[in-house]
Amino acid sequence: MKVGIDALGVAVPSLCLDLEALAKARGVDPKKYLDGIGTWRMGVAPLDEDTVTLAARAASMAMKSGEASGDDIGLLVVGTETAVDHSKPVSSYVQGLLGIGQRCRVFETKHACYGGTAALMMALDWLRSGSARGRKALVVCSDIARYGLNTPGEPTQGAGAVALLVSEAPRLLELDPALTGQHATDVHDFWRPLYSKDAFVDGPYSVQCYLDAITGAYRHFREQAPWVTADDFAALAYHVPYGKMARKAHRQLRALDGDLNPDASFDAQVAASLALPAQVGNVYTGSLYLALASLLATSSRDLDGQRVGLFSYGSGSCAEFFAGSVVPGAQARVKALELQALLDAREVLTIEAYEALMAAREATDLKPLERARGDAFHFLGVEAHKRTYAGPSA
Ligand code: HMG
Repeated sequence: MKVGIDALGVAVPSLCLDLEALAKARGVDPKKYLDGIGTWRMGVAPLDEDTVTLAARAASMAMKSGEASGDDIGLLVVGTETAVDHSKPVSSYVQGLLGIGQRCRVFETKHACYGGTAALMMALDWLRSGSARGRKALVVCSDIARYGLNTPGEPTQGAGAVALLVSEAPRLLELDPALTGQHATDVHDFWRPLYSKDAFVDGPYSVQCYLDAITGAYRHFREQAPWVTADDFAALAYHVPYGKMARKAHRQLRALDGDLNPDASFDAQVAASLALPAQVGNVYTGSLYLALASLLATSSRDLDGQRVGLFSYGSGSCAEFFAGSVVPGAQARVKALELQALLDAREVLTIEAYEALMAAREATDLKPLERARGDAFHFLGVEAHKRTYAGPSA
Protein backbone atom coordinates (compact mmCIF):
# COMPACT_ATOMS: atom_id res chain seq x y z
CA MET A 1 0.00 0.00 0.00
CA LYS A 2 1.26 3.47 -0.89
CA VAL A 3 1.11 5.96 1.97
CA GLY A 4 2.43 9.48 2.37
CA ILE A 5 1.81 13.20 2.24
CA ASP A 6 -1.04 14.13 -0.08
CA ALA A 7 -1.12 17.89 0.51
CA LEU A 8 0.35 20.46 2.83
CA GLY A 9 -0.46 23.85 4.25
CA VAL A 10 1.72 26.47 5.90
CA ALA A 11 0.83 29.31 8.25
CA VAL A 12 3.09 32.04 9.58
CA PRO A 13 2.14 34.84 11.94
CA SER A 14 1.33 38.20 10.42
CA LEU A 15 4.40 39.83 12.02
CA CYS A 16 8.13 39.26 11.69
CA LEU A 17 11.45 40.75 12.79
CA ASP A 18 14.56 41.39 10.69
CA LEU A 19 17.54 39.79 12.39
CA GLU A 20 19.85 42.48 11.09
CA ALA A 21 17.89 45.01 13.15
CA LEU A 22 17.93 42.68 16.16
CA ALA A 23 21.71 42.23 15.87
CA LYS A 24 22.24 45.99 15.78
CA ALA A 25 19.99 46.46 18.82
CA ARG A 26 21.92 43.79 20.73
CA GLY A 27 25.34 45.14 19.72
CA VAL A 28 26.15 42.02 17.69
CA ASP A 29 27.77 41.90 14.24
CA PRO A 30 24.77 41.26 11.90
CA LYS A 31 26.88 38.70 10.04
CA LYS A 32 26.70 36.50 13.12
CA TYR A 33 22.91 36.15 12.77
CA LEU A 34 22.68 36.24 8.96
CA ASP A 35 25.64 33.93 8.21
CA GLY A 36 26.68 32.39 11.55
CA ILE A 37 23.11 31.42 12.52
CA GLY A 38 21.76 31.42 8.96
CA THR A 39 18.42 33.16 9.54
CA TRP A 40 17.48 36.65 8.37
CA ARG A 41 13.88 36.99 9.51
CA MET A 42 11.86 35.33 12.27
CA GLY A 43 8.12 35.10 12.69
CA VAL A 44 6.56 36.85 15.69
CA ALA A 45 2.97 36.18 16.70
CA PRO A 46 0.72 39.14 17.58
CA LEU A 47 -1.53 38.79 20.61
CA ASP A 48 -4.48 37.44 18.66
CA GLU A 49 -2.49 34.64 17.00
CA ASP A 50 -1.35 31.53 18.84
CA THR A 51 -0.65 27.83 18.34
CA VAL A 52 -4.35 27.20 17.69
CA THR A 53 -4.87 29.91 15.06
CA LEU A 54 -1.65 28.98 13.25
CA ALA A 55 -2.67 25.30 13.29
CA ALA A 56 -6.16 26.12 11.98
CA ARG A 57 -4.81 28.25 9.14
CA ALA A 58 -2.25 25.64 8.05
CA ALA A 59 -4.85 22.85 8.30
CA SER A 60 -7.35 24.86 6.28
CA MET A 61 -4.77 25.37 3.51
CA ALA A 62 -3.83 21.66 3.47
CA MET A 63 -7.46 20.56 3.27
CA LYS A 64 -8.22 23.03 0.47
CA SER A 65 -5.12 22.01 -1.45
CA GLY A 66 -5.95 18.31 -0.99
CA GLU A 67 -9.67 18.85 -1.76
CA ALA A 68 -10.57 17.18 1.55
CA SER A 69 -13.77 17.84 3.46
CA GLY A 70 -14.19 17.63 7.24
CA ASP A 71 -15.84 14.22 6.90
CA ASP A 72 -12.84 12.79 5.02
CA ILE A 73 -10.69 13.10 8.15
CA GLY A 74 -10.59 10.07 10.47
CA LEU A 75 -7.53 11.09 12.48
CA LEU A 76 -6.62 14.63 13.53
CA VAL A 77 -3.42 15.04 15.51
CA VAL A 78 -1.67 18.26 16.45
CA GLY A 79 1.99 17.94 17.37
CA THR A 80 3.06 20.86 19.53
CA GLU A 81 5.25 21.79 22.46
CA THR A 82 3.57 25.16 22.96
CA ALA A 83 0.00 24.09 23.66
CA VAL A 84 -2.53 26.50 25.15
CA ASP A 85 -4.05 24.24 27.82
CA HIS A 86 -2.77 21.49 30.13
CA SER A 87 -5.74 19.30 29.30
CA LYS A 88 -7.75 20.35 26.25
CA PRO A 89 -5.71 19.63 23.12
CA VAL A 90 -5.04 22.16 20.36
CA SER A 91 -6.53 19.57 17.99
CA SER A 92 -10.01 19.99 19.54
CA TYR A 93 -9.95 23.71 18.83
CA VAL A 94 -8.83 22.95 15.26
CA GLN A 95 -11.61 20.40 14.88
CA GLY A 96 -14.18 23.00 15.92
CA LEU A 97 -12.77 25.82 13.80
CA LEU A 98 -12.54 23.66 10.67
CA GLY A 99 -15.77 21.73 11.12
CA ILE A 100 -14.12 18.32 11.14
CA GLY A 101 -16.63 15.53 11.79
CA GLN A 102 -17.21 13.78 15.11
CA ARG A 103 -16.27 10.30 13.87
CA CYS A 104 -12.62 11.07 14.23
CA ARG A 105 -9.73 10.42 16.64
CA VAL A 106 -8.64 13.86 17.84
CA PHE A 107 -5.63 14.40 20.10
CA GLU A 108 -2.33 16.18 20.65
CA THR A 109 1.21 14.76 20.77
CA LYS A 110 4.27 16.16 22.52
CA HIS A 111 7.93 15.44 22.28
CA ALA A 112 9.62 18.82 21.73
CA CYS A 113 10.21 19.26 17.97
CA TYR A 114 9.68 15.53 17.33
CA GLY A 115 5.95 15.66 18.28
CA GLY A 116 4.80 16.22 14.69
CA THR A 117 6.92 13.38 13.34
CA ALA A 118 5.53 11.06 16.04
CA ALA A 119 2.05 11.98 14.78
CA LEU A 120 3.02 11.50 11.13
CA MET A 121 4.47 8.04 11.80
CA MET A 122 1.35 7.10 13.72
CA ALA A 123 -0.82 8.33 10.85
CA LEU A 124 1.13 6.22 8.33
CA ASP A 125 0.74 3.13 10.55
CA TRP A 126 -2.99 3.90 10.98
CA LEU A 127 -3.41 3.92 7.20
CA ARG A 128 -1.42 0.73 6.70
CA SER A 129 -3.25 -1.10 9.51
CA GLY A 130 -6.58 -0.77 7.69
CA SER A 131 -8.14 1.31 10.49
CA ALA A 132 -8.47 4.32 8.19
CA ARG A 133 -11.13 2.63 6.01
CA GLY A 134 -10.58 5.10 3.18
CA ARG A 135 -10.34 8.16 5.40
CA LYS A 136 -7.38 10.53 5.62
CA ALA A 137 -5.28 11.79 8.51
CA LEU A 138 -4.60 15.44 9.20
CA VAL A 139 -1.32 15.97 11.05
CA VAL A 140 -0.65 19.54 12.14
CA CYS A 141 2.62 20.80 13.58
CA SER A 142 2.21 24.18 15.26
CA ASP A 143 4.42 26.17 17.63
CA ILE A 144 5.66 29.51 18.85
CA ALA A 145 9.37 29.32 19.71
CA ARG A 146 10.39 31.67 22.54
CA TYR A 147 13.67 31.98 24.41
CA GLY A 148 13.33 35.47 25.81
CA LEU A 149 15.00 38.80 25.21
CA ASN A 150 18.78 39.13 25.35
CA THR A 151 19.42 35.38 25.50
CA PRO A 152 21.70 33.47 23.07
CA GLY A 153 18.57 31.73 21.82
CA GLU A 154 16.81 35.02 20.95
CA PRO A 155 17.82 34.99 17.24
CA THR A 156 16.63 31.38 16.95
CA GLN A 157 12.99 32.07 17.84
CA GLY A 158 10.15 31.86 15.32
CA ALA A 159 6.53 30.84 14.93
CA GLY A 160 4.46 28.92 12.42
CA ALA A 161 2.55 25.79 11.53
CA VAL A 162 2.68 23.16 8.83
CA ALA A 163 -0.24 20.81 8.21
CA LEU A 164 0.08 17.51 6.37
CA LEU A 165 -2.82 15.67 4.80
CA VAL A 166 -1.77 12.02 4.95
CA SER A 167 -3.42 9.46 2.71
CA GLU A 168 -3.26 6.22 0.73
CA ALA A 169 -2.98 8.19 -2.51
CA PRO A 170 -0.22 10.70 -1.74
CA ARG A 171 0.27 13.42 -4.34
CA LEU A 172 3.37 15.00 -2.76
CA LEU A 173 5.64 12.51 -1.05
CA GLU A 174 5.34 8.73 -0.83
CA LEU A 175 6.87 7.61 2.46
CA ASP A 176 8.24 4.26 3.57
CA PRO A 177 7.30 3.90 7.26
CA ALA A 178 8.85 0.42 7.45
CA LEU A 179 12.32 1.77 6.72
CA THR A 180 13.25 4.37 9.32
CA GLY A 181 16.06 4.85 11.81
CA GLN A 182 15.47 6.14 15.34
CA HIS A 183 17.65 7.49 18.12
CA ALA A 184 16.27 8.36 21.56
CA THR A 185 18.10 9.34 24.72
CA ASP A 186 17.24 11.04 28.05
CA VAL A 187 19.06 14.39 27.93
CA HIS A 188 18.47 17.92 29.23
CA ASP A 189 19.55 19.90 26.19
CA PHE A 190 16.38 22.00 25.83
CA TRP A 191 13.27 22.01 27.98
CA ARG A 192 10.43 24.20 29.19
CA PRO A 193 9.13 23.65 32.73
CA LEU A 194 5.37 23.98 33.25
CA TYR A 195 5.84 27.34 34.98
CA SER A 196 7.72 29.00 32.12
CA LYS A 197 6.67 30.43 28.77
CA ASP A 198 10.28 30.69 27.64
CA ALA A 199 12.36 27.62 26.84
CA PHE A 200 15.55 26.83 28.74
CA VAL A 201 18.45 25.54 26.71
CA ASP A 202 22.07 24.51 27.03
CA GLY A 203 22.89 25.81 23.54
CA PRO A 204 26.24 24.15 22.70
CA TYR A 205 25.11 20.90 24.36
CA SER A 206 21.87 20.94 22.34
CA VAL A 207 23.91 21.21 19.14
CA GLN A 208 25.99 18.20 20.23
CA CYS A 209 22.85 16.23 21.19
CA TYR A 210 21.36 16.96 17.74
CA LEU A 211 24.56 15.74 16.02
CA ASP A 212 24.69 12.60 18.21
CA ALA A 213 21.06 11.95 17.31
CA ILE A 214 21.58 12.25 13.56
CA THR A 215 24.53 9.90 13.88
CA GLY A 216 22.45 7.32 15.75
CA ALA A 217 19.35 7.64 13.56
CA TYR A 218 21.21 7.55 10.25
CA ARG A 219 23.29 4.52 11.37
CA HIS A 220 20.07 2.76 12.38
CA PHE A 221 18.55 3.60 8.99
CA ARG A 222 21.65 2.36 7.14
CA GLU A 223 21.63 -0.94 9.09
CA GLN A 224 18.26 -1.66 7.49
CA ALA A 225 19.22 -0.30 4.07
CA PRO A 226 23.01 -0.85 3.74
CA TRP A 227 22.74 -0.29 -0.02
CA VAL A 228 21.65 3.37 0.48
CA THR A 229 24.17 6.21 0.79
CA ALA A 230 23.61 9.97 1.03
CA ASP A 231 24.33 10.19 -2.71
CA ASP A 232 21.10 8.29 -3.38
CA PHE A 233 19.06 11.26 -2.17
CA ALA A 234 18.33 14.06 -4.61
CA ALA A 235 17.68 16.21 -1.54
CA LEU A 236 17.96 16.04 2.24
CA ALA A 237 15.69 17.99 4.58
CA TYR A 238 16.74 18.39 8.19
CA HIS A 239 15.15 19.77 11.34
CA VAL A 240 16.07 23.47 11.10
CA PRO A 241 16.26 25.29 14.45
CA TYR A 242 18.42 27.69 12.42
CA GLY A 243 20.05 27.33 9.00
CA LYS A 244 23.58 26.71 10.22
CA MET A 245 22.38 23.70 12.22
CA ALA A 246 21.17 22.08 9.00
CA ARG A 247 24.61 22.65 7.50
CA LYS A 248 26.23 21.01 10.54
CA ALA A 249 23.76 18.12 10.24
CA HIS A 250 24.58 17.67 6.57
CA ARG A 251 28.32 17.60 7.27
CA GLN A 252 27.78 14.98 9.96
CA LEU A 253 25.54 12.79 7.80
CA ARG A 254 27.87 12.87 4.80
CA ALA A 255 30.89 12.23 7.03
CA LEU A 256 29.19 9.06 8.25
CA ASP A 257 29.34 7.86 4.64
CA GLY A 258 33.06 8.69 4.55
CA ASP A 259 32.63 11.92 2.54
CA LEU A 260 35.71 14.09 3.13
CA ASN A 261 34.19 17.16 1.43
CA PRO A 262 30.57 17.27 2.66
CA ASP A 263 30.03 20.98 1.87
CA ALA A 264 30.41 20.22 -1.87
CA SER A 265 26.94 18.61 -1.93
CA PHE A 266 25.23 21.25 0.25
CA ASP A 267 23.87 23.53 -2.48
CA ALA A 268 22.50 20.67 -4.56
CA GLN A 269 21.05 18.61 -1.71
CA VAL A 270 20.09 21.08 1.03
CA ALA A 271 20.03 24.80 0.08
CA ALA A 272 16.47 24.88 -1.37
CA SER A 273 15.04 23.43 1.85
CA LEU A 274 16.41 26.40 3.82
CA ALA A 275 14.95 29.23 1.69
CA LEU A 276 11.68 29.51 3.65
CA PRO A 277 13.02 28.54 7.13
CA ALA A 278 15.62 31.36 6.83
CA GLN A 279 12.69 33.80 6.74
CA VAL A 280 10.61 32.21 9.50
CA GLY A 281 13.04 30.93 12.16
CA ASN A 282 12.47 27.87 14.31
CA VAL A 283 8.91 26.57 14.19
CA TYR A 284 9.77 23.57 16.41
CA THR A 285 7.46 20.67 15.37
CA GLY A 286 6.86 22.08 11.90
CA SER A 287 10.50 22.85 11.21
CA LEU A 288 11.36 19.75 9.16
CA TYR A 289 8.11 20.04 7.23
CA LEU A 290 8.67 23.72 6.48
CA ALA A 291 12.03 22.60 5.08
CA LEU A 292 10.23 20.01 2.95
CA ALA A 293 7.72 22.63 1.76
CA SER A 294 10.62 24.94 0.96
CA LEU A 295 12.37 22.23 -1.05
CA LEU A 296 9.26 21.52 -3.13
CA ALA A 297 8.38 25.20 -3.53
CA THR A 298 11.79 26.64 -4.36
CA SER A 299 14.00 23.95 -5.88
CA SER A 300 14.82 24.71 -9.50
CA ARG A 301 15.55 21.00 -10.12
CA ASP A 302 12.98 18.52 -11.37
CA LEU A 303 12.47 16.22 -8.36
CA ASP A 304 9.79 13.97 -9.92
CA GLY A 305 10.30 10.43 -8.69
CA GLN A 306 13.46 11.41 -6.78
CA ARG A 307 14.34 10.17 -3.28
CA VAL A 308 14.38 12.65 -0.40
CA GLY A 309 15.88 11.92 3.03
CA LEU A 310 14.30 13.54 6.10
CA PHE A 311 15.70 14.02 9.58
CA SER A 312 13.53 14.98 12.54
CA TYR A 313 15.00 15.94 15.92
CA GLY A 314 13.22 16.72 19.16
CA SER A 315 15.19 17.71 22.23
CA GLY A 316 14.96 15.54 25.26
CA SER A 317 15.46 13.59 22.91
CA CYS A 318 14.01 11.54 20.06
CA ALA A 319 15.11 11.61 16.43
CA GLU A 320 14.19 9.80 13.24
CA PHE A 321 15.74 9.50 9.79
CA PHE A 322 13.32 8.40 7.10
CA ALA A 323 12.86 8.71 3.35
CA GLY A 324 10.33 9.25 0.64
CA SER A 325 9.89 9.66 -3.12
CA VAL A 326 8.59 12.84 -4.67
CA VAL A 327 5.36 12.14 -6.55
CA PRO A 328 5.35 13.58 -10.10
CA GLY A 329 3.55 16.93 -10.08
CA ALA A 330 4.29 17.60 -6.38
CA GLN A 331 6.46 20.65 -7.04
CA ALA A 332 3.74 22.33 -9.12
CA ARG A 333 1.16 21.63 -6.41
CA VAL A 334 3.32 23.21 -3.69
CA LYS A 335 4.40 26.14 -5.89
CA ALA A 336 0.69 26.89 -6.42
CA LEU A 337 0.39 27.60 -2.68
CA GLU A 338 2.51 30.75 -3.22
CA LEU A 339 4.28 30.39 0.11
CA GLN A 340 6.77 33.17 -0.60
CA ALA A 341 3.87 35.62 -1.05
CA LEU A 342 2.59 34.52 2.37
CA LEU A 343 5.93 35.50 3.90
CA ASP A 344 6.15 38.75 1.92
CA ALA A 345 2.73 39.85 3.23
CA ARG A 346 3.99 40.02 6.85
CA GLU A 347 4.46 43.31 8.64
CA VAL A 348 8.06 43.91 9.77
CA LEU A 349 8.23 45.00 13.41
CA THR A 350 10.48 47.64 14.88
CA ILE A 351 12.63 46.48 17.80
CA GLU A 352 10.51 48.57 20.18
CA ALA A 353 7.27 47.00 18.93
CA TYR A 354 8.80 43.49 19.13
CA GLU A 355 9.95 44.01 22.72
CA ALA A 356 6.58 45.45 23.72
CA LEU A 357 4.82 42.45 22.17
CA MET A 358 7.06 39.97 23.99
CA ALA A 359 6.28 41.71 27.29
CA ALA A 360 2.54 41.90 26.54
CA ARG A 361 2.36 38.19 25.71
CA GLU A 362 3.05 37.42 29.38
CA ALA A 363 -0.41 38.76 30.26
CA THR A 364 -2.50 37.55 27.33
CA ASP A 365 -3.62 34.23 28.71
CA LEU A 366 -6.35 35.93 30.65
CA LYS A 367 -6.70 39.23 28.85
CA PRO A 368 -9.55 39.79 26.39
CA LEU A 369 -8.20 41.34 23.22
CA GLU A 370 -8.98 44.74 21.86
CA ARG A 371 -8.59 43.82 18.22
CA ALA A 372 -11.05 41.58 16.41
CA ARG A 373 -10.62 40.98 12.72
CA GLY A 374 -12.39 39.05 10.05
CA ASP A 375 -9.58 37.97 7.76
CA ALA A 376 -8.19 34.87 9.48
CA PHE A 377 -8.62 32.53 12.45
CA HIS A 378 -7.86 34.60 15.54
CA PHE A 379 -7.89 34.46 19.33
CA LEU A 380 -10.65 36.54 20.94
CA GLY A 381 -9.71 36.19 24.60
CA VAL A 382 -10.70 34.20 27.67
CA GLU A 383 -14.21 34.07 29.09
CA ALA A 384 -15.06 31.95 32.13
CA HIS A 385 -11.58 30.37 31.81
CA LYS A 386 -12.37 29.24 28.25
CA ARG A 387 -10.26 30.37 25.30
CA THR A 388 -12.41 31.63 22.48
CA TYR A 389 -11.55 31.89 18.80
CA ALA A 390 -13.14 33.16 15.63
CA GLY A 391 -12.84 31.95 12.06
CA PRO A 392 -12.31 34.00 8.89
CA SER A 393 -16.00 34.62 8.34
CA ALA A 394 -16.80 35.68 11.93
P1 HMG B 1 25.82 31.69 20.48
O1 HMG B 1 26.68 31.27 21.61
O2 HMG B 1 25.25 33.06 20.58
O3 HMG B 1 26.53 31.68 19.10
O4 HMG B 1 24.64 30.62 20.38
P2 HMG B 1 27.97 31.11 18.68
O5 HMG B 1 29.03 31.89 19.35
O6 HMG B 1 27.99 29.59 18.80
O7 HMG B 1 27.92 31.54 17.15
C1 HMG B 1 27.02 30.97 16.29
C2 HMG B 1 27.69 30.85 14.93
O8 HMG B 1 27.92 32.17 14.42
C3 HMG B 1 29.06 30.18 15.00
O9 HMG B 1 29.17 29.37 13.82
C4 HMG B 1 30.03 31.36 14.93
O10 HMG B 1 31.29 31.01 14.39
C5 HMG B 1 29.27 32.28 14.00
P3 HMG B 1 29.67 27.84 13.98
O11 HMG B 1 30.99 27.88 14.64
O12 HMG B 1 28.62 27.18 14.84
O13 HMG B 1 29.66 27.33 12.58
N1 HMG B 1 29.66 33.68 14.10
C6 HMG B 1 29.81 34.48 13.03
N2 HMG B 1 29.69 34.25 11.70
C7 HMG B 1 29.90 35.30 10.86
N3 HMG B 1 30.24 36.54 11.27
C8 HMG B 1 30.39 36.80 12.59
C9 HMG B 1 30.18 35.76 13.52
N4 HMG B 1 30.23 35.67 14.87
C10 HMG B 1 29.92 34.40 15.21
N5 HMG B 1 30.74 38.04 12.97
C11 HMG B 1 23.17 28.91 19.69
C12 HMG B 1 24.24 29.90 19.24
C13 HMG B 1 22.60 28.18 18.50
C14 HMG B 1 23.77 27.89 20.66
C15 HMG B 1 22.04 29.70 20.42
O14 HMG B 1 21.42 30.56 19.50
C16 HMG B 1 20.99 28.82 21.06
O15 HMG B 1 21.14 28.38 22.20
N6 HMG B 1 19.86 28.54 20.34
C17 HMG B 1 18.78 27.70 20.85
C18 HMG B 1 19.17 26.22 20.86
C19 HMG B 1 19.20 25.59 19.48
O16 HMG B 1 18.63 26.07 18.53
N7 HMG B 1 19.84 24.39 19.41
C20 HMG B 1 19.89 23.65 18.18
C21 HMG B 1 19.99 22.15 18.41
S1 HMG B 1 18.70 21.54 19.50
C22 HMG B 1 17.28 21.54 18.48
O17 HMG B 1 17.37 21.69 17.30
C23 HMG B 1 15.97 21.35 19.17
C24 HMG B 1 15.12 22.60 19.26
O18 HMG B 1 14.57 22.89 17.99
C25 HMG B 1 14.02 22.44 20.31
C26 HMG B 1 13.08 21.25 20.21
O19 HMG B 1 13.43 20.13 19.90
O20 HMG B 1 11.91 21.46 20.60
C27 HMG B 1 15.93 23.81 19.68
